[in-house]
Amino acid sequence: MLRRLHPVQPDSFAFTPANLEWARGQISKYPEGRQASAIIPLLWRAQEQEGWLSRKAIEVVADMLGMAYIRALEVATFYFMFHLQPVGSVAHIQICGTTSCMICGAEELIAVCQQMIAKTPHTLSPDGKFSWEEVECLGACANAPMAQIGKDYYEDLTADKLRDMITRFSNGEVPTPGPQNGRYAAEPLSGLTSLKDFESTKPQYNASVQRAVDVGDTIKRIDGTEMPISTPWLGRAAKTATKVSVGAVAAAVVKAVTKPKSMAKKLTTKKKSKGDL
Ligand code: FES
Repeated sequence: MLRRLHPVQPDSFAFTPANLEWARGQISKYPEGRQASAIIPLLWRAQEQEGWLSRKAIEVVADMLGMAYIRALEVATFYFMFHLQPVGSVAHIQICGTTSCMICGAEELIAVCQQMIAKTPHTLSPDGKFSWEEVECLGACANAPMAQIGKDYYEDLTADKLRDMITRFSNGEVPTPGPQNGRYAAEPLSGLTSLKDFESTKPQYNASVQRAVDVGDTIKRIDGTEMPISTPWLGRAAKTATKVSVGAVAAAVVKAVTKPKSMAKKLTTKKKSKGDL
């Protein structure tokens, strides 16, 4: 499938202050000259912030990492997890259409999306709130059919349940993720047949649903304030160095933004001198 940038693009992109701090923390994971390794997390955070990846967002990330734009564009267009066109302001619904889900009713779920959102995938609903697409297996086959909505999985769906959920999302609610047929996780619908000791002490939701409920970021656009920024890899002993390192990274980021080509050239020269190419 040909993946191209959307014909209508915003004029600019900037990370929120908290997302920028988070991005610098990610860059600090990598040794000098290897900052390009942070390309996927940074593109992902840009998408979490805006809902999709614009050309400007890809270029800003490339500048931060001292990469040529084409290299960042190659990554963004290669991975299907990156949305290259605007998505619904409330939610982008990804229906799994692979074998288990197809056998269990994915086609009815797609029909609901076509009726309630738009006839074709990657198209905004008339009110701009929703978009949808069919995706390959999302690894929740035991709970088929399922959909990923925002960050979370909604499993054991039926057409009626999905219809009801889209209505609730539209009204500002966030239905609880996880199985929608009363199952706790992926156990038999009739209940556990083994490991029953756990049943009396289990929390209200399974671990991933509990996390989604606790953090509340299922369909939220991420601005970086949701979770404390953590850089445990820097370590206490490296704290002093960290200050230097993060400072150096910040300086490199500024330099990369203002002089991306010279930065990229510098990195290339370094690689060559180390016999890395
Ligand atoms: S087939 Fe749908 S999650 Fe695997």
